[in-house]
Amino acid sequence: MKALVLSGGRATRLRPITHTSAKQLVPVANKPILFYALEAIRDAGIRDIGIIVGHTAEEIMAAVGGGERWGVKVTYISQEAPLGLAHAVKIAHPFIGNDRFVMFLGDNLIREGVTEVVQRFEGEQANAHIMLAKVPNPQDFGVAELDGNRVQRLVEKPKEPKSDLALVGVYLFDSNIFKAVNAIKPSARGELEITDAIQYLIEKDYAVHWHLITGWWKDTGKLEDLLEANRLVLENIETRIEGRVDESSCTDGRVIVEKGAEIVRSVIRGPAIIGEDCRIEDSYVGPFTSIYNRVTITGSEVEHSIVLEDSCIRGIGARIEDSLIGKNVTVSKDDGRPRAYRLMLGDNSDVSVL
Ligand code: TTP
Repeated sequence: MKALVLSGGRATRLRPITHTSAKQLVPVANKPILFYALEAIRDAGIRDIGIIVGHTAEEIMAAVGGGERWGVKVTYISQEAPLGLAHAVKIAHPFIGNDRFVMFLGDNLIREGVTEVVQRFEGEQANAHIMLAKVPNPQDFGVAELDGNRVQRLVEKPKEPKSDLALVGVYLFDSNIFKAVNAIKPSARGELEITDAIQYLIEKDYAVHWHLITGWWKDTGKLEDLLEANRLVLENIETRIEGRVDESSCTDGRVIVEKGAEIVRSVIRGPAIIGEDCRIEDSYVGPFTSIYNRVTITGSEVEHSIVLEDSCIRGIGARIEDSLIGKNVTVSKDDGRPRAYRLMLGDNSDVSVL
């Protein structure tokens, strides 16, 4: 089997972070989201991975390289524009050939990994296998309608969903999917939809199997889902202190402090992770927070947030919560006159002040 990982796309819902970076490389618990997918695929015994890349190709290629770190072979497939998930499948045909394959959305995280479903698909006669998860907001996903044990209909983001079963961003196909992606037409939003391609298989009586997943799954395309994914991954960390925690500081619960990091007169309440060469001084870092490498936090409180590398948070009077702070950002309190908020924010930024 081969694997196809989708790491192109527009990522409009994570602007402004995605004006300058690929969303698949945003770290969750200080590891890029995409790396979780590559690990899951490697763990399932697949060695041949195609990665779809778009305008952030350079950054993805710099981070993943040839796949040596995972012991896999990576082939990059360039998509000229984000024309849909089924379009990504279409252009991957020369790479996939006649093999069966698992397609993994590069911004999705799935707790149970893909080992079991890959084994199941290798042993069954199905032409496609989809994974479903019950969600409270099916209108935001591709939704499956079942008729007994059979998938009857798939609808992309239905206004009035007829079921609460969302399509998880991991799909298994045999080469019949290429007939489907070549037959369908773009949807109203101008994309070749994977739901339409699978619907084509259903209508032509190909065997489309499914199963309901038991563990958590997160599509990290939106801020709140990204923070939730960060929370879920941090739930499972084990304490590891490789940096320096001074005697006036305390770490509480499961906390990782990476090498070169310094915690001075501060409280870190886990689960939380502090990256390499960070400096946390006179501050509080609360549960479900991931602070990436070389961040400085002084005289501030941060909780349930992700802070990317080289940023600085200084003297903020109120607690920062539920936030994603990009690379090289400064957030500071300024007592100069006139008293005012002084901001330099990128397009599509979202700020709420006290
Ligand atoms: P989506 O999150 O559905 O789309 P998007 O990345 O364009 O985001 P937004 O809706 O915020 O604008 O994409 C799921 C995954 O598939 C993601 O990793 C990007 C990738 N993708 C491609 O590689 N090619 C495509 O044509 C599309 C639409 C998505």
